[in-house]
Amino acid sequence: MSIAPAELGPREFNFTDDDFRALARLARAEFGLSLSESKKPLVYSRLARRLRARNIARFQDYMNLLGKSDEAEERLELISALTTNVTSFFREKHHFETLRSQLAPALGKQSRVRIWSAGCSSGQEPFSIAMTLLDVLPDSARTDVRILATDIDPAVVRRARAGQYPREEADSIPPDLRKSWTKPVADPSGAFEMIDQTRKLISFAELNLIEPWPFHGPFDAIFCRNVAIYFDQETQQTLWNRFAEMLRDDGFLFIGHSERVTGPALQALTTAGVTTYRKKPGASSATAT
Ligand SMILES: C[S@@+](CC[C@H](N)C(=O)[O-])C[C@H]1O[C@@H](n2cnc3c(N)ncnc32)[C@H](O)[C@@H]1O
Repeated sequence: MSIAPAELGPREFNFTDDDFRALARLARAEFGLSLSESKKPLVYSRLARRLRARNIARFQDYMNLLGKSDEAEERLELISALTTNVTSFFREKHHFETLRSQLAPALGKQSRVRIWSAGCSSGQEPFSIAMTLLDVLPDSARTDVRILATDIDPAVVRRARAGQYPREEADSIPPDLRKSWTKPVADPSGAFEMIDQTRKLISFAELNLIEPWPFHGPFDAIFCRNVAIYFDQETQQTLWNRFAEMLRDDGFLFIGHSERVTGPALQALTTAGVTTYRKKPGASSATAT
């Protein structure tokens, strides 16, 4: 997270070091987020909006509110405020080239294909996966291909499910894919949406990655990009382990440009390109940390 100068304005609310530490403890316990002291100004400016929205005068009162059992929605507002949903179609293109050239040919011979976009934000990542698969495996809408797309933030999952995007985002989609798998929305805005064949490949769901997962895999590929960057090292290593356990032999794990797999999961995963890993055939599941 970078700190924009506008976020360092004069303080409307008193935000003590104790307030920050209490918030950091909660963010870690509930969401695995790592908030170092350097993020204090950013955290202040993001959460000041929540205090205003809830008409609360002190950070301490906001913390008390977050602790209440009927404030699950505010805890989700908290994670929305502390993370970013920035995403785009075909972000980090090399992963989609690997999907197209190395993974899809083998998938074409399988009866069942499972891919997980973990931390899918507003859907551009799973729709990029879907368009790539539809392009390379024209039969995929008729065979057993499923893309699971999950995110902790209900607001982005809703946007992803809607599958509609403003005109400016169309430029990131290769023109042939855009022509085949999207269509203009019936209004003059220039917005576009995914056609049914594209949508049908994807199941969207809300999921906090640091909680138990209600499925078992195995997955042919997992995309978890620009999500673990918010987690502390222990949470990251636990996550890499759990992903390794969820992959089939030779399955792919794609992570974000500034992330690296570290820790025990490296017993089961081998590097296979830029921020790309594959599960070693026959690797026993990594030891959970
Ligand atoms: C920067 S976006 C990345 C979107 C996409 N993967 C990409 O690379 O373009 C990060 C997403 O991770 C989600 N996220 C953050 N913490 C999470 C958690 N504990 N469980 C699930 N999703 C989480 C956020 O809600 C956000 O939508």
